[in-house]
Amino acid sequence: MSDAEDSAARRIADCFASLWHLVRPIDGSGTDEFRRMARIQIINALERGGEFVGSQTGVQLFAGTFYSEAVIWSGQMSEVHLVRHRDLGNLQVLKTVPKARARDQMIVERLIVEAKIGVALRHAHLVETTMLLRLEDGRPALILESCGKSLADQLAHGVVESGEIVTALMHLLEGLSALHRAGYVHGDVAAENLLSALDLAEQWKLGDFGLTLPVGGSCAVKDVAYQGRPHYASPEQKAGLQLTPLSDLYSVGMLAGHIARSCVPACTRDQLIASRALQAFEAILVQEDQGKRPADAHTCLAILKDCFRSCAN
Ligand SMILES: Nc1ncnc2c1ncn2[C@@H]1O[C@H](COP(=O)(O)OP(=O)(O)OP(=O)(O)O)[C@@H](O)[C@H]1O
Ligand SMILES: [Mg+2]
Repeated sequence: MSDAEDSAARRIADCFASLWHLVRPIDGSGTDEFRRMARIQIINALERGGEFVGSQTGVQLFAGTFYSEAVIWSGQMSEVHLVRHRDLGNLQVLKTVPKARARDQMIVERLIVEAKIGVALRHAHLVETTMLLRLEDGRPALILESCGKSLADQLAHGVVESGEIVTALMHLLEGLSALHRAGYVHGDVAAENLLSALDLAEQWKLGDFGLTLPVGGSCAVKDVAYQGRPHYASPEQKAGLQLTPLSDLYSVGMLAGHIARSCVPACTRDQLIASRALQAFEAILVQEDQGKRPADAHTCLAILKDCFRSCAN
């Protein structure tokens, strides 16, 4: 230990002895209530010390509990961090509004509504929302289970086998089926919102309930102009009309067609089958007239399997 460290250690020991003297019941200095308050003050001072250390080292501490390990997304409406729980040590994901938009009540409210929907949903193919926090600066922040890369990221890096694409679409439909049964329309079905599970291989989860609405709601009801992906959106969604589960199925069809044309090279027999099957599936789901779309997400699962079966023959 250097001389400086030795003297710092002695100062810490002296300070601790003084504090101990103040809060120890037998010394008779003050009432029990005084000692209780003094103990809380000491704990608070140590807590603030933690934040001070955090700000000095550039480590961000959220709500005194979650350390930011990395920013994984920084968008118009949200900022997403990979965080580690300070005491439990496990990794989670924190989604909040960007600092610059902290006073935008519409965005703040949307994140709170997203939390209300998320915490009420539990399904193997839906990203789990653990809780909603308020950060020191008043921003709401969702704590989510930590997932791996999105399907969009994986497709962009060209690492997804055609079999895995089918698995991803099947899990998307299973997640949607649960969401629809709970009375919601997702409103933003896209490869960016389909995340791979971290702990289980070949498992996919639908996340981002930022545009999710009760069945029969419309973007206008949510007081936001349509902000999803116009390329995948159903005609009723683009027109700001009421949404039903069939609106999500239209988007699933658009997503399948987009993947078939842009992400599945027709080199091997399996890829050729996948590309054809996905386009056949798209043709069945992408119908202007809602009455001509399959009845529900579960029916789509059977249709997807049929498309593969008939293209393989
Ligand atoms: N639970 C999670 N685990 C891992 N990554 C996540 C998680 N949630 C979000 N992400 C990453 O952050 C990205 C953005 O998150 P999300 O889709 O929820 O926000 P958004 O509402 O689309 O943001 P914006 O509107 O600003 O584009 C996702 O595409 C994904 O890459
Ligand atoms: Mg998203």
